[in-house]
Amino acid sequence: METLNFLTSELISQAVEQVGSPVYVYSRETIEKRCREVSAFPSAYGLNARFALKANPHLAILKVVESMGLHFDASSEFEVMRCLHAGIPAEKIQLTGQQFPRKHLKEIVEAGVLFNACSLKQINQFGKAFPGANISFRVNPGTGSGSNRKTNVGGPSASFGIWHTQTDEVAEIAARHNLKINRIHSHIGSGSDPEVWKAVTEMTLAQADKFPDVHTVNLGGGFKVARMASEKSTNLQEVGEFVKTVFIKHAEKTGNEYKLEIEPGTYLSANCGSLICDVDDISNTGEEGYTFLKLNTGMDTITRPALYASEHPIIIINDNIETKDYVVCGHCCESGDVFTVDESDTLTTRTVSKAETGDLVVIEGAGAYCASMSLKNYNSFPTTPQLLLDDGELKVIQKPQSLTEMLAPEIIPS
Ligand SMILES: Cc1ncc(COP(=O)(O)O)c(C=O)c1O
Repeated sequence: METLNFLTSELISQAVEQVGSPVYVYSRETIEKRCREVSAFPSAYGLNARFALKANPHLAILKVVESMGLHFDASSEFEVMRCLHAGIPAEKIQLTGQQFPRKHLKEIVEAGVLFNACSLKQINQFGKAFPGANISFRVNPGTGSGSNRKTNVGGPSASFGIWHTQTDEVAEIAARHNLKINRIHSHIGSGSDPEVWKAVTEMTLAQADKFPDVHTVNLGGGFKVARMASEKSTNLQEVGEFVKTVFIKHAEKTGNEYKLEIEPGTYLSANCGSLICDVDDISNTGEEGYTFLKLNTGMDTITRPALYASEHPIIIINDNIETKDYVVCGHCCESGDVFTVDESDTLTTRTVSKAETGDLVVIEGAGAYCASMSLKNYNSFPTTPQLLLDDGELKVIQKPQSLTEMLAPEIIPS
């Protein structure tokens, strides 16, 4: 059975008293610990660690991460603007976006935000707007990893970055606009296997060698984090030592000593956040069927289980020593709003403490790609408030959304 990460029964009751249920709670202490681990990633010729803020872009979280000395990787111009709004210096932000900026390009580049082109078209567009500038590009090194198509971000089925055989065109376009390529980037979602990291590192270094001005090689994020007790987290030191050796051997062979960048999202934030909710209802489909534990939250608030069949620990907060197997489902009118499915999308059950309606429940591992990726306001459920546990105190960082706020942008034409 799963256990609580950083919450206690008292904190859970306090959080619910403060803003109601459901509510996200993040731990400042845990985020800081993760930042220290990431900053200690082994490197041969220097390290810069970025937080991939898509995982959790809340302004308060960005400030905590910044205070730990990390830089940031933004996935859209709007994430860049969010960082600037939080007061993060432009030179600490890099933009790696599927979509070229349409609204804030001039503002963010002139401020000093680094641009990482993700396609040949992006290099050309950037070059036309800023001839002579420094630029980085994302390469798809030709291999991918990830448990399914939706989490695989490298190899022939991924649209991210410039295919590794097209880097001659990169050089041509850059030369046309007098751009200086001084950084190179790859991110394939590599998980825990040091051998995969080694292969991706070698492929990316080989690409870097084609560009004489490159001084920094960014290997992206993708370090696996164990949310469930049965899973295993990446050992950053182990993977880092592998990567470091590859950098050193490469430098001995070529003379090119590259600085390393990494940019985890999940590793920095997944186990720093928990979602508190409660049991709204319990029903069953007879002796041949299932018992359903229905929560007062769901895919509108935490979408990963429905989208990726991701497993999160589910802990019932009661003193019951008796256990029961449930299909745990969310409150949206969707048969896909289920927390207990396997990768082939088959319904599974989870053994948890025998629950009663009204019992509080904690969904763990909810700090990355949860609040940020939620289907906000589906079924018109209000967005879930968020608290930061800071030195023992629960601070409101996202207020509960009122019905008035939810409806305010909608207009009935006269
Ligand atoms: C470019 C880039 N960097 C970093 C990350 C962070 O990945 P993770 O959260 O798996 O560490 C992502 C995630 O998709 C990404 O696309």
